[in-house]
Amino acid sequence: TSLLILNGPNLNLLGTRQPEVYGDTTLEQIEAMCIDKGRVAGCNVSCFQSNHEGELIEAIHAARNTYDGIILNAGAYTHTSVALMDAISSVGVPVIELHLSNIHAREEFRHKSYIAPVAIGQICGFGPKGYTLAIEAMLGHLEKTG
Ligand code: DQA
Repeated sequence: TSLLILNGPNLNLLGTRQPEVYGDTTLEQIEAMCIDKGRVAGCNVSCFQSNHEGELIEAIHAARNTYDGIILNAGAYTHTSVALMDAISSVGVPVIELHLSNIHAREEFRHKSYIAPVAIGQICGFGPKGYTLAIEAMLGHLEKTG
């Protein structure tokens, strides 16, 4: 089993970016946690981050032949990107939507997600721990669906 952890815009700044909202864990630490979680669970975990919508779309396209599931924190593109939504619909790879913060408890514009309708589920509000929860949830989903 191979999983892709895909992070979108501004998440490269985790650790220093609005720590009161996003905490002080860096993306590097989160990625190391995910790879570790994968090792323990016996699956292969790869990580990619981009600030560019097109690169995220291309990563989703490429995942079609490479990964069994994607954990996606699309950052602000969550709330704007029909193109990301279409990319997910276009490849047969299951996606779990992830956010560090509880987007539903924040500004109104963060309540709308273009990812949610094409994701198998959403995890938000649990900080970095959400990534390992998402890996567990994805492995459970893949086991169920074969
Ligand atoms: C985020 C929530 C988004 O609203 C925001 O634009 C981000 C991070 C989160 O992980 O909580 O960049 O996806």
